[in-house]
Amino acid sequence: MSAAAPAAAPAAAPAQQQPAFRRVFGFIGGAVAKVVSTTFIVLVVALVARHVPDDKNTIAKTHSPEVVLARMLARFEAGSVIPRFEKYHVSRPDAIAMLQKVLRPARLKDYTVVIGEVGCGKTTAVHNAIRANSTGIVYHIVKSEVLVSMPGLLARSLAFEPNQFTEGYLKDRGVELDEVTSAAEPFRSWVLLSLILRDVAQQFKTKHGHPATLVIDAVDEIAQQGPALLHAIQDFAKAAADEQLLNVVLVTCDGSNLPELKASSAMTRARIAEVSDITDEQAVDFLLHRGVNEDAAKRAVAEIAGGRFVLLNSLVFELQFKTVDQIFLKFHIGTRGALRRLFGDLAQISPPVSSTFCRLCRGAQHVDDVEEALGLDLTKKLLATHINILAYHPNDTYTLHSRHVQRSSRFGVLRCVSAYVMI
Ligand SMILES: Nc1ncnc2c1ncn2[C@@H]1O[C@H](COP(=O)(O)OP(=O)(O)O)[C@@H](O)[C@H]1O
Ligand SMILES: [Mg+2]
Repeated sequence: MSAAAPAAAPAAAPAQQQPAFRRVFGFIGGAVAKVVSTTFIVLVVALVARHVPDDKNTIAKTHSPEVVLARMLARFEAGSVIPRFEKYHVSRPDAIAMLQKVLRPARLKDYTVVIGEVGCGKTTAVHNAIRANSTGIVYHIVKSEVLVSMPGLLARSLAFEPNQFTEGYLKDRGVELDEVTSAAEPFRSWVLLSLILRDVAQQFKTKHGHPATLVIDAVDEIAQQGPALLHAIQDFAKAAADEQLLNVVLVTCDGSNLPELKASSAMTRARIAEVSDITDEQAVDFLLHRGVNEDAAKRAVAEIAGGRFVLLNSLVFELQFKTVDQIFLKFHIGTRGALRRLFGDLAQISPPVSSTFCRLCRGAQHVDDVEEALGLDLTKKLLATHINILAYHPNDTYTLHSRHVQRSSRFGVLRCVSAYVMI
């Protein structure tokens, strides 16, 4: 028995020691794990705790209505950045002076619609008028974007980013938003933008003692996709003028767009300002500076382009390869084609229409006389940009659209009243 007992003793020792080690290491391990996990939790909580107020601060810093409005106000105060003009530049002091008065009216009575034929230099002249001092002026140009994007792009020019607080802010200001939020785009975005714009305009006026100016160029692009949004913008412009809140200037080519603009009752509050062509002398000078020889320059201006920049620019290029006669013939065929599409057989043009063209060849005619003789529908078609036969002027007259149309008409209408365009 006594021999068995010492034999059993060494065997029992590890068996008895293992739970003791486990206990000790288990205790230490547990303590370490506890410390680690507690530290981890504390760290995570601290991190989250730090992060949450950070986010709230960031959101407050970037998204609060006050900040959003302040950004738009700052955009007005700084004014839009206008790109430099790079090619040879014709100085137009009269047009610029006229536009500067439009951009900074002594007293805001109406909103302004700046008109002028496509390519007569409206955008460039407006840029020049703003560039000298853009403080207080935001300029936006409508490109050929789809209509629903228009308010969003305008908002970008105004440094306005609507967010989750925008509607709440307007509701707090007592604005009834149910109709707005249920409206389809682009009207929903436009109304939200216009409501914020009103508030910022008010802030600007209070701070600076005079209204800010918003220029929207190429509004004919809006009208081409349906007049409703353009009419909403005109209503806004009229209300802003009535309240002397914001000076809104809309720039458009007259031909395609004037009937749409006129269809709005808000047009009664519009002042129309025209950017016209440059003089023939300036036009010849322009061609000479662009490398055209004197004889071709004089003839091209007299017979084709007059002082219309877009035509002068294309002449600079085309006169390198073609004669003035060849270029005129191309325009003449275009005019004849447009009229054929409109009238069918040119020989069947009615005498009142024919004689109206004869009178237009001699110079400007009053709108009433032309509209009576041609009818409103035909007048509107002849004004459209893809036809480009008539041009409207704010002194209530129509002329033929350009020098080459005048010459084409004289060729046909005066020499042969029944056959409108000969060749
Ligand atoms: N004062 C000017 N001097 C030289 N080129 C001009 C001038 N004004 C306009 N142009 C040129 O004529 C073209 C049409 O001008 P733009 O201002 O875009 O016309 P619009 O806005 O009336 O369609 C452009 O290529 C422009 O660079
Ligand atoms: Mg333009």
